[in-house]
Amino acid sequence: MDYKQLIIETIDSKKEYYYDLAMKLHDHPETAYNEVQACKWFTEALKENGFDVEVGPYGMPTAIRATWGSGHPVIGLLAEYDALPGLSQRQNTVHDPVIEGGPGHGCGHNLLGTATLAAALGMKADLEASGLPGTIVFYGCPAEEVLTGKPFMARGGAFKELDLALAWHGGGYNMVHYGIAGGINSAIFHYKGVAGHASGAPWLGRSALDACELLSVGANYLREHIPDKSRIHYSYIEAGEAPNIIPDSASVWYYVRGLSRESIDDIYGRLVETAEGAAKMTGTKLTVEFLGGCYNTHATKVVSDLLHDVLAELPPIEYTQEERDLATALAKTSPRYKGDDPLPTFVLPNTWYESSGSFDLGDVQHIVPCGLFSTLTWPAITGNHNWQATCCTGNSIGLKGMMQGAKAMAIAAGRAFREPEFLKAAWDEFDKVIGKDSYKCPIPMDVPVPQPVYDERSEQDEKAPKAKAGCFLKLAEKRYSVRKFKDQPVEQEKIDAILRAAQVAPTAANFQPQKILVINSPEAIAKMPECTRYTFDAPLFFLTCIDHSKVWVRKQDGKNGADVDAAIVHTHMMLEAEELGLGSVWVGSFDPAAARKAFNIPDNIEPIALLPVGYPAEDAEPSPLHSKNKPIEELAVYNTF
Ligand SMILES: Cc1cc2nc3c(=O)[nH]c(=O)nc-3n(C[C@H](O)[C@H](O)[C@H](O)COP(=O)(O)O)c2cc1C
Ligand SMILES: [Zn+2]
Ligand SMILES: [Zn+2]
Repeated sequence: MDYKQLIIETIDSKKEYYYDLAMKLHDHPETAYNEVQACKWFTEALKENGFDVEVGPYGMPTAIRATWGSGHPVIGLLAEYDALPGLSQRQNTVHDPVIEGGPGHGCGHNLLGTATLAAALGMKADLEASGLPGTIVFYGCPAEEVLTGKPFMARGGAFKELDLALAWHGGGYNMVHYGIAGGINSAIFHYKGVAGHASGAPWLGRSALDACELLSVGANYLREHIPDKSRIHYSYIEAGEAPNIIPDSASVWYYVRGLSRESIDDIYGRLVETAEGAAKMTGTKLTVEFLGGCYNTHATKVVSDLLHDVLAELPPIEYTQEERDLATALAKTSPRYKGDDPLPTFVLPNTWYESSGSFDLGDVQHIVPCGLFSTLTWPAITGNHNWQATCCTGNSIGLKGMMQGAKAMAIAAGRAFREPEFLKAAWDEFDKVIGKDSYKCPIPMDVPVPQPVYDERSEQDEKAPKAKAGCFLKLAEKRYSVRKFKDQPVEQEKIDAILRAAQVAPTAANFQPQKILVINSPEAIAKMPECTRYTFDAPLFFLTCIDHSKVWVRKQDGKNGADVDAAIVHTHMMLEAEELGLGSVWVGSFDPAAARKAFNIPDNIEPIALLPVGYPAEDAEPSPLHSKNKPIEELAVYNTF
């Protein structure tokens, strides 16, 4: 059988398997550097198919390097599997997230990883059947969406081993990416100033937010004096807490894009000087956190032409009416829609383009001849990085494009295995245009590879929570009993927020029997030592009480709900205090009768728990008891004791 036909049949024979894998990835989206589950699934699949698999090479826990075969040519395939934050979406033609604000495969890397696996297995079948020499290298490339994954891999030595690299990405057209797309530098500018009362004593403060704003003003003037198709964009990641507090800490995250490394380095250098100027102007201190960077892409013509030929030779994808209707409905969500065919099946001509958008494939393209092509996986009108794309990468439109991409990748590799003159021509062009061994990783050695936020726990302790620690768990883990406070009052806004937490706490039958005594006047505080020795000189106390005329009582055994309701309310307040940057300690050991007397507490009201609150002293620290947690196996039993 013709090798092309063999590849097509091999890939088609496992269609259901690839569809399942792509859908599993789609339903389990993991963002950049957190692709723990995706990495496991690909590792399993590669091992089952006889590849030698290295998991976590280059200091990157979610990277993979898997090889099969021997000798030259050595052909690398570049799989990606990270998702994008905020792009969760169900199968729907209106915005309908599975999880509000959750991640989603709006760039189709679920398809990308799977197509690359399918191509690798197609190539293996071809080499087995033909007996040709050759090595397949499957790279699992983390974190494409933050554009630093492949540069970190390259820094660790990846891709140099190759004679050729091939990459596929979903797209709005069937096409080859022959041209240049921008490279990038990514950095966060952190400013530290001096906090103060924005109205009472503004002259004493130095605003870190002012520094960010002046940097942005400077950057926006800089914009006019940079080469065409360069880009500067930013997003504030910390910008103060409240208008009446001069922000002593603020940060802004910048991307600088350009069509060559020289251009990016030049613009970035000028931006750093602008940032230093902003620090000078505001009397603040600047720290630059360089997150990474990548090269511009630069496709080799010889490889692009080969990919184009292969793509044009494949039978075009056929769509059902249902798929066409869905694509049209999605296309109509775009104001650009003018009735164009949302699912074109032709292959675009292979014409050179220059674009400012970036892929981190540029680094690979500066190490070896490397081509990139797309097949249609979403309507061109709607594009990607949006919910419409997440929808299509989870249905047959995306899955069909994925299969087409896998076949084209494996067939292109098949030609490279058979045509030594093709590889020679690719390298001749590469040497002339890019230059062999010219690559210098844009990320210095001292910038650490970001690590998965929950990798260690899930790897080392099978019983530890697999879910990513969200904000709540982080807050709960951070809180400890603070028993030493600064001599500094707590602002009324913060007292209000703590009382709001008490207000929204659940209570039995929503009877809301809680009554909170706020103690913050000097006279009231002076009475505290009569009630408890655990005052810790706090500037503020909350005494959580329960009104017994409003308490829910359990019918079955007459159990009174007062303590449970009070505990929930008190816990809410304690955690809100933590979130506000305050410290607190639950005090159960106080004299209720003394409290009654000191604060005129009526008979039907029972004081249950006391919460001293304040700003933790500089030398406040957790007691040894804080870190003594029972193992989860000891505290939880499943289903029955
Ligand atoms: C119901 C209850 C009563 C408590 N009473 C006191 C108290 O009277 N004095 C005190 O210093 N800490 C008290 N604590 C704090 C605990 O000792 C503390 O939460 C525990 O040792 C765990 O430490 P951590 O809060 O730093 O994690 C109390 C905690 C609870 C939940
Ligand atoms: Zn992508
Ligand atoms: Zn993307």
